[in-house]
Amino acid sequence: MATSNNIPDLEFEPDVLSSEVLRHRPVYEGVTFPPAVRIEALKELKTFQIRQDDIFIVTFPKSGNCSVLSSFSGLGTHWVNEIVSLLVAEGDLERVNRRTTLAHLEFALIDDVGKDGSRYCYMYKMLQKADSPRVISTHLPYRFLPEQMDEKKPKIIYVARNPKDVFTSWFHFRKRDPRFGDLPWEEYFNGAISGKYVYGSWFDHVLEYWNKREKGNVLFLKYEDIKMNARETVVSIAKHLNLTPSDDVIDRVVHSSSLDEMKKMYQRIKTDNQGPFNNHYGNAYGSNSYIRKGKIGDWRDHFSVAENEEFDRVFQEKMKDSGLTFAFE
Ligand code: A3P
Repeated sequence: MATSNNIPDLEFEPDVLSSEVLRHRPVYEGVTFPPAVRIEALKELKTFQIRQDDIFIVTFPKSGNCSVLSSFSGLGTHWVNEIVSLLVAEGDLERVNRRTTLAHLEFALIDDVGKDGSRYCYMYKMLQKADSPRVISTHLPYRFLPEQMDEKKPKIIYVARNPKDVFTSWFHFRKRDPRFGDLPWEEYFNGAISGKYVYGSWFDHVLEYWNKREKGNVLFLKYEDIKMNARETVVSIAKHLNLTPSDDVIDRVVHSSSLDEMKKMYQRIKTDNQGPFNNHYGNAYGSNSYIRKGKIGDWRDHFSVAENEEFDRVFQEKMKDSGLTFAFE
């Protein structure tokens, strides 16, 4: 499958990050959303036109596929995005279309304004015009996705990570962003466990997709399984996407999506970033801040004994009867 960068260049210099909008976290249907995800945008993207060959990568923040402007993710979103994009590009790093992977769905409708004052929504236009197959990332709970999802049934890859490491990863990500202030771990922990932060409760988010795993278009992956058996995961993703990569392509995808190789790649994007994306968008995607330790069990250095007990109690209560388990070590 060929990929191209057949996407229009920016016709203006967006001024999104300095905007007041980034300081406001809207609440819609009981869920808190990140700054810059407007309620109107959430309504508008319900009508986003889905293509049958779209590939959706869905995660709760910090599971390995965070977006450009979302300042909080730890689940490995970027990681799975890299694997999928590499598979689509037949293992060829130079052919990975980083422009569409830039556009997290809910941020695509960011209300960037052109020099003439008109509403522009560059990312949204870019997504609408992008060549197929589009690799689209999102942290949205299923019920917020476009209405055509049920009808067109594009492939969905959901990545879940053990929540102790998710919270730990997120804590570190937030610490690097001055907009969040210096929230002490104890306070942050209480907010995270009670689903107070953006995208709401980790438990609700994961269970919603877990309960859809039997549907043919949903592949439910765990960060820990990818980490422990990357090759097998790449093969299962390829199968889900009806791709038949050669052994050589699989080897290249596994190699290029390793933590060390991704660090190098992101550094390169950051250094080389020229042209229309030499601003907020491009720099954010090439940001090494999305790649930290990438290990299983980092939570041990943060959770107190009491917090761990509290967490285990809540986990048992929320996940009981689900059959969903995680490797915490
Ligand atoms: P840590 O903060 O625990 O290191 P997201 O992309 O959703 O924001 O998730 C970021 C988390 O995924 C970070 O976790 C990051 O290190 C990890 N990650 C990113 N790429 C990875 C890779 N190739 N292998 C393992 N972990 C990776």
